[in-house]
Amino acid sequence: MMAHIEGVLSPDQVAMFRERLAAADWVDGRATAGEQSALAKRNLQVPADSETARELGEIILGALGRNPAFISAGLPLRVYPPLFNRYDAGMAFDTHVDNAIRFAGPVRFRTDLSCTLFLTDPDDYDGGELIVEDIYGEHAVKLPAGDMILYPASSLHRVAAITRGSRWSSFFWAQSMVRSDEQRTLLYDLDNTIQRQSLKLGQGDAEVVGLTGIYNNLLRMWADV
Ligand code: NI
Repeated sequence: MMAHIEGVLSPDQVAMFRERLAAADWVDGRATAGEQSALAKRNLQVPADSETARELGEIILGALGRNPAFISAGLPLRVYPPLFNRYDAGMAFDTHVDNAIRFAGPVRFRTDLSCTLFLTDPDDYDGGELIVEDIYGEHAVKLPAGDMILYPASSLHRVAAITRGSRWSSFFWAQSMVRSDEQRTLLYDLDNTIQRQSLKLGQGDAEVVGLTGIYNNLLRMWADV
């Protein structure tokens, strides 16, 4: 499932991020790529251990921890420290799959979810769509600054070449409590249905309470924590 999470960062936060990133040291993005994807990758990144990446990453993690849509869609167990990249004119990232396991210091993560948080207004660049392939075909994603796309890390994906301007974003991975994308999608659909019914009928309605029970029991059956 792909989920568009709106307003992870406010416009003021995006402006502050851009100011900090403009002053950062950018290095070749192949530093964090696997052997195969290094061949496909042409972009720039802020080093993961830099103060800028750490401080801005903390702000993103805080915002995600308070974001009901991210929690419902991703059911996150661990979120990898956010990284920052940019694609200037001519840069791209050809089709690849993200590494299954990543290390954050001594902690090992399984990457179930890939996240891209957009930090550039879509009018400020051409090209640069995130293109995700699934069984229904290709999905081109270009979101307002401050919005985020969540998609299965198992997907083949790429970033189309930039033809004008520069596209800045934060990217990171999460391990979900529910490993299967199919099960996560069912839980997300069920949760959204419960939220809508709850608005119509009230939280105490017997059907809403029953559905909430089913949601929790499915989560109990499928979650690893
Ligand atoms: Ni990738």
